Amino acid sequence: MDRTVRSVEALEILDSRSMPTLAVTVTLADGTKARAGVPSGASTGSREAVELRDGDPERYAGKGVLRAVANVNTEIAAALVGHRFEDVGEVDRRLIALDGTPNKARLGANAVVGVSIAVARAFAAARDMELWQAIAASEGTTPRLPVPHFNVLNGGKHAPNDLDFQEFMIAPIGAPNFPEAVRAGSTVYGALRKTLAERGYATGLGDEGGFAPALRRPEDVLSLVVHAIEAAGYTAGRDGVAIALDPASSEFYRDGLYHVDAEALTSDDMIDRYAAMAENYPIWLLEDGLAESDWDGWERLTARLGDRLRLVGDDILCTNPAIITEAIARRAGNAALIKVNQIGTVSETLEAMRICRQAGWAQFVSHRSGETEDSFIADLALGTGCGQLKTGAPARGERVAKYNRLLEAAASFPDLPYGLN
Ligand code: PGA
Ligand code: ZN
Repeated sequence: MDRTVRSVEALEILDSRSMPTLAVTVTLADGTKARAGVPSGASTGSREAVELRDGDPERYAGKGVLRAVANVNTEIAAALVGHRFEDVGEVDRRLIALDGTPNKARLGANAVVGVSIAVARAFAAARDMELWQAIAASEGTTPRLPVPHFNVLNGGKHAPNDLDFQEFMIAPIGAPNFPEAVRAGSTVYGALRKTLAERGYATGLGDEGGFAPALRRPEDVLSLVVHAIEAAGYTAGRDGVAIALDPASSEFYRDGLYHVDAEALTSDDMIDRYAAMAENYPIWLLEDGLAESDWDGWERLTARLGDRLRLVGDDILCTNPAIITEAIARRAGNAALIKVNQIGTVSETLEAMRICRQAGWAQFVSHRSGETEDSFIADLALGTGCGQLKTGAPARGERVAKYNRLLEAAASFPDLPYGLN
């Protein structure tokens, strides 16, 4: 195959929140063509790579991405077209050098990540490989179908209710295979809709496809989710369907206190609250339990609950290899959330995952609350064999695109193992 780039083109499209984002198409000299859609977060970490937005109040309230599109079509295209590359890493290094900032602020992380994903997809296609196979070959990993973490109830920045916790997920850890895990997710989601309706709650959806009822106390939500798991005929717990939480606590951390349902809690109060929740409900994973600036709290949380729970850092780590390295050294958490657009290139994302693997840290591949139909993260989770993926509810096109991509892989490659790693 010839990894010479013939063209790189971007345009402005819409994401699942009706906000502008980029679609990037890369064509190689041999005619191979691949496209990428760029995701966008709402509850972002402060150290994430920076999205470039136009700031023109006349278009999309300043959220247009025409400058990022122009950067792809001019500067980035000029740097790549006509050149032959060894691998995605070489392209990414070129993009990072061209941008010249530590956080991709000049060209825009949204521009850079779109090109990086499209290139990864094109290079795999040119080798006649599935994208996840190419990732596994480059990383030396064993492909594994991940446990899907379905976000079934939304709060925080993702819903217009008064619930402070952002995500309540169900994880069919005990399912015998990936298709059965998807069926469990869909069945529990249906049972939850019925339970909510019976109790007089609205069943409208939040940004990630979970329900967004007028609930306030996290424990009330947990009781409802457990009820739905059992009503659907599953065991609530690691043998069946377990629960994962992403409170996204940086969003309700102010002046050193966590503001949850009219209470103001210290870090240690929060840790006590989580310990009680883990005692009373079948929770197996807690993401962003404490805020991105509360490193001391994270160390105490890990000392207290690290043996019982997967403690995943999202806003605190930002998929950043240097920050992850620091967190590993400080024992702040025991797992990293992995979002490609937080760091801005495919190869830096793979580096972050490699650092975790070497330290015995788990990796939890994730979508963003603003998504397109792009399913790159499904291939990323499968190819690296990390064992877990969150990409929203088992509903809505931009969410199921990822689960469906994995159903396709499960059907075509029946020997692929399923489950946590
Ligand atoms: P975001 O939220 O995509 O809005 O940042 C997802 C998450 O916090 O995991
Ligand atoms: Zn998160």
